[in-house]
Amino acid sequence: VKREKQVFVLRLSHRPFRDKRVTSHVGLVARAFGADGLVISVEDAAVSRSIGDVVERWGGDFSVSVERDWRGYLKRWKGLVVHLTMYGLPLDEVISDVQSVTGDVLVVVGAEKVPPEVYKRADFNIAVGSQPHSEIAALALFLDRLFKGGGLRKDFEGKTRIIPSANGKFALSD
Ligand SMILES: C[S@@+](CC[C@H](N)C(=O)[O-])C[C@H]1O[C@@H](n2cnc3c(N)ncnc32)[C@H](O)[C@@H]1O
Repeated sequence: VKREKQVFVLRLSHRPFRDKRVTSHVGLVARAFGADGLVISVEDAAVSRSIGDVVERWGGDFSVSVERDWRGYLKRWKGLVVHLTMYGLPLDEVISDVQSVTGDVLVVVGAEKVPPEVYKRADFNIAVGSQPHSEIAALALFLDRLFKGGGLRKDFEGKTRIIPSANGKFALSD
């Protein structure tokens, strides 16, 4: 059953040598906070493998795909495009407008300087505070607001599941 809103994250300008860890974390946060997939514009087996390993063990339907022609991908994208940038409009001011649009959402985050065409293509340029910080933090907050906290309550039905505990580490494995 297709959920009402599918959310994908497009990570631009991934530099395999420098950005491996941050891009992996963008993917892990996307998954853990309720998104459906990560799109990277540069093939990086280490990123695909690390996220794939987590999905295999911890569950959920989460894809990692490579779109070398990210400009074409952005052009073809039929849903909403949200670009997270400190230069955008404040998250609190626009999140209800984003929520009210039906259809899929592509969330774009950068690494180095994001080309001006992305700002133009985006339906919403959104700032998570107007200070420079991190694509990982910006994504986490945006998804949490978008899903009104529901992303964190998602049941991943994984082979391994944590039993929340106040004072220990407990998990079940199939
Ligand atoms: C480390 S920043 C570098 C941005 C780059 N210097 C530029 O001018 O585009 C990498 C990414 O983090 C995200 N980011 C950083 N601060 C943000 C903020 N305050 N609000 C929203 N996104 C932010 C953006 O997606 C940005 O492309």
